[in-house]
Amino acid sequence: MGQEQHATWGGRFSEEPAERMLRFSESVSFDARLARYDVRVNKAHSAMLCKIGILTAGERDAIHAGLDALEKRIEAGELSWDIRYEDVHMNLEQALTREVPAAAKLHTARSRNDQIATDMRLYFKDACGEIEEALTALLRVLVDLAERSRDVLVPGYTHLQRAQPVSLAHHWLAYAEMFGRDRDRFRTAARAANVCPLGSGALSGTTLPLDRAFVAEYLGFVDEAGRPCLTRNSMDAIADRDLFLDFAQACAVCGTHFSRVAEDMILWSSREFGFIELPDAYCTGSSLMPQKKNPDAMELLRGKAARLQGNLQTLFSLVKGLPFTYNRDLQEDKPPIFDSGDQTARSLEVLAGALSGCEIRAAVCREAVEDPLLLVTDVVDYLVQKGVPFREAHHLAGRLVRLAEEAGVPVNALPFDQVRGLHEAFAEDWTDVFDLERAMRHRTGVGMPGPEPVAAEIARWREALQS
Ligand code: ARG
Repeated sequence: MGQEQHATWGGRFSEEPAERMLRFSESVSFDARLARYDVRVNKAHSAMLCKIGILTAGERDAIHAGLDALEKRIEAGELSWDIRYEDVHMNLEQALTREVPAAAKLHTARSRNDQIATDMRLYFKDACGEIEEALTALLRVLVDLAERSRDVLVPGYTHLQRAQPVSLAHHWLAYAEMFGRDRDRFRTAARAANVCPLGSGALSGTTLPLDRAFVAEYLGFVDEAGRPCLTRNSMDAIADRDLFLDFAQACAVCGTHFSRVAEDMILWSSREFGFIELPDAYCTGSSLMPQKKNPDAMELLRGKAARLQGNLQTLFSLVKGLPFTYNRDLQEDKPPIFDSGDQTARSLEVLAGALSGCEIRAAVCREAVEDPLLLVTDVVDYLVQKGVPFREAHHLAGRLVRLAEEAGVPVNALPFDQVRGLHEAFAEDWTDVFDLERAMRHRTGVGMPGPEPVAAEIARWREALQS
């Protein structure tokens, strides 16, 4: 190993790192995936070093050509990553220097500290974009489902007890609202990532005359007007892991959302509810019980949500209490981040696939929603409209429920005399309240589950998802 092994920082050392230390401290096994960003950062940095006279044009061109060749080898899986060089940065630099001697100048005025901060910001921009696309695809599936189930009514639940009727479309659109907010969260994270930390050095910049704006522009860290966006404090730029927390938080919140949807689907696809049939392609059977069809995709989505929360917790614990600025602990920030990014994107794809193939069992939904108790709250509204104070109306409707239970009849089948006996505000038309379609038609306000507002929301979503 000798000379070459210590090429990057070996000058002051008299002993080789212990084998177990190498295996313990390497990160290339998980940060090699940053190679394409590291190549871009190397190109930007060497172009800038040429601009300020530290590299000749010939040296820059040789480095760029070497980086292109290296990238091809990486894509073809031909570069053998070596734990003796710890991480992606040193592996690339070593491999490049073997081919291009001028690359010995590449690390001028730079540290792996600002390098990893820059690589990760490029990663976050891409990862947010990928998840945003997955969310958009899921939103389209939800809006299509809403379209398909405009005329299907189901009981809405609170406390997992039947509460009031809603259109199934309204239910799908409720999920769309959640995932729409997730999309905003990832967009915000991508915007926050769009600031270039390169030039911060190890923590206090450099005495060399860097052109930070040039590098930022080269890497696409620019605002809408094309102006370079630079971090404003070298120490913060190195120590800062807010983006990691924001991204992991966005993933954890999104996971919490898809976990709740998954739970609804598990319930709805059970024999007890039976509102939907999940597609076979997203379910599995039992190795023992031949009749079983298990909603594994949905259960795994619930499970993944726990993992995403754990990753966020790991990052909070990692960063909390760390002295400024860089500490090697921070290398541990990448596994949870990559895991959260990957698992969130894959989970959203699976959810979109499973939902788009799910069958709505309209007859079962209809039977469940015909339970007249779901409209007893509308009886309260009926009485209120006749001038009965709400509290009294609520009490009267409660009495109706009790009478029906005692008589063992559906609440709307109570004889009119008995109902009238409770309060004179009841007229013969009181049972009209139990007409479901009418009940839904009367829910006209913005955000309500009536056919009109639901149609308006479907149109609004369609428009929002066009781009
Ligand atoms: N692999 C390191 C990490 O991910 C890169 C930065 C190393 N910096 C250092 N001073 N050892 O954190």
